[in-house]
Amino acid sequence: MKDAPPIIEFDDIQKDYVTEAVVVRALRGVSLTIEKGEFVAIIGQSGSGKSTMMNIIGCLDRPTRGKYILDGIDVGSRSNDARAIVRNHLIGFVFQGFNLLPRTTALENVELPLVYRGVGASERRKRAVESLSAVGLGTRLHHTPNQLSGGQQQRVAIARALVTQPPLLLADEPTGNLDTRTSFEVLDLLQRLNREQGITIVLVTHERDIADCAGRVVEMRDGKVRRDIVNEKPTDAARALAELPAQEDYGAAS
Ligand SMILES: Nc1ncnc2c1ncn2[C@@H]1O[C@H](COP(=O)(O)OP(=O)(O)OP(=O)(O)O)[C@@H](O)[C@H]1O
Ligand SMILES: [Mg+2]
Repeated sequence: MKDAPPIIEFDDIQKDYVTEAVVVRALRGVSLTIEKGEFVAIIGQSGSGKSTMMNIIGCLDRPTRGKYILDGIDVGSRSNDARAIVRNHLIGFVFQGFNLLPRTTALENVELPLVYRGVGASERRKRAVESLSAVGLGTRLHHTPNQLSGGQQQRVAIARALVTQPPLLLADEPTGNLDTRTSFEVLDLLQRLNREQGITIVLVTHERDIADCAGRVVEMRDGKVRRDIVNEKPTDAARALAELPAQEDYGAAS
């Protein structure tokens, strides 16, 4: 494993958004290396370039200048089709707001990426059930998103991102819509995926206590990396959960 290339290498990445009125320099020279197996949180003020960075990491957008090497592959020099193939094999995405299809069961939502890959129906079902069971939703397979809690919907989104077994999971504000308890439940799941399966995780958050769960915190400011700090003692989300007041305590006063 020593010779394995970093999963992400950014060399002086810049991104300009050109609109009629102005050119926004969203990334102004970001150089960053993320090794396989890391759990990285990206923080920073609104507009500092976090989502822009995630979109480039995820090959959904390309840099204006600079070099991006994903798992040893120079994705900048590839065609759109080749980048889509690389993306489909290496990356799972979890977006803010879940992006689940309504009126579609958890199982069908999770099967979808496998449909795109041409995996047969029975294999698809088997893997989707496994993925949902792994996030603790084995008993909610046939529920539609509106029949699930926010945290459960987010777990379906994670199951969907993981069903293709990508080595890299990208999550942009995965706890943005969730209360504290549910946020730590999602983080507990991500920490276990990282520790037990070695999945590399890059997560954007604006919450300090969520960022503290990561082993490394990269702070963005005005399109640049302002700080890049190793967190020697990440918060154990399972422990943080156990230390929260019991759920019955909420609103149960009087
Ligand atoms: N498609 C676009 N066209 C023009 N400007 C854009 C576009 N997307 C983002 N920007 C600008 O680029 C800058 C960085 O945006 P980005 O979405 O990366 O910020 P962010 O750090 O994710 O913020 P937030 O915390 O609010 O999600 C902002 O100033 C934004 O207005
Ligand atoms: Mg954003």
